[in-house]
Amino acid sequence: MVRRKQIYEGKAKILFEGPEPGTIIQYFKDDATAFNNKKHDVLEGKGVLNNRISEFIMLGLERIGIPTHFIKRLNMREQLVRHVEIVPLEVVVRNVAAGQICKRLGLENGTVLPRSIIEFYYKNDDLGDPIVSEEHITAFNWANPQEIDDMMAMALRINDYLSGMFGAVGIKLIDFKVEFGRQYEGEMMRLILADEISPDCCRLHDMETGEIMDKDRFRQDLGKVTDAYREVARRLGVFRESENSGQSGPVLVSDNGE
Ligand code: TMP
Ligand code: ASP
Repeated sequence: MVRRKQIYEGKAKILFEGPEPGTIIQYFKDDATAFNNKKHDVLEGKGVLNNRISEFIMLGLERIGIPTHFIKRLNMREQLVRHVEIVPLEVVVRNVAAGQICKRLGLENGTVLPRSIIEFYYKNDDLGDPIVSEEHITAFNWANPQEIDDMMAMALRINDYLSGMFGAVGIKLIDFKVEFGRQYEGEMMRLILADEISPDCCRLHDMETGEIMDKDRFRQDLGKVTDAYREVARRLGVFRESENSGQSGPVLVSDNGE
């Protein structure tokens, strides 16, 4: 067997060279980190769940016309994706105040925001991903004004889609983070959604009980992190629990030959 070439190892994923030029294999690890890697643990099964949840969401977004890097899921932990040049920004959309915005602006956790708010953070672990304005983004050439407009428009459409999708299964989308990349095809370049969308990068609360169903369970030491992710996946219909094998983990509904 030929050993694949690793391109990059991040906190929750590893990227390998893909089978064809312009493709990459994205491997979902079980590692969980928070507070810029200060807190770390391995949560068995998280990678499998995020792979499936992110696949489900990317396919849904493609259907409503959001271009994404997703090509296909390869197996339990891997996806084939398009190679992009990542825009060095984390784009956060907030519907309800939680996390950093509460501290920064003195808002009470849970305050419904007057409208959905988009924020940009500069992707730089050494600096702790600082919040930046459009002035910084254009001055330092991280993205041009047209790209900023495109990212904002896509982020809002993604927010509408995800809010509806989660709302339909009794989950409130508090906020989320996405990343975009530049895909080059000859002379042409387009911005597409990259990375992943999973409970690792969203805040998701049960609409009835308020229970936290995302990575805040890990950040706040609430326990049962993967149980919560599995419940998100179950509600979305991504998989059903094994009918007779107890704790053996997720049973895949539709499988592409694994
Ligand atoms: P924040 O309140 O910590 O800024 O988080 C806002 C949203 O972005 C939340 O859903 C978690 C997500 N997020 C990430 O996915 N990665 C990060 O590095 C940070 C800081 C937040
Ligand atoms: N993803 C970041 C980290 O791993 C921060 C977070 O999600 O809380 O440190």
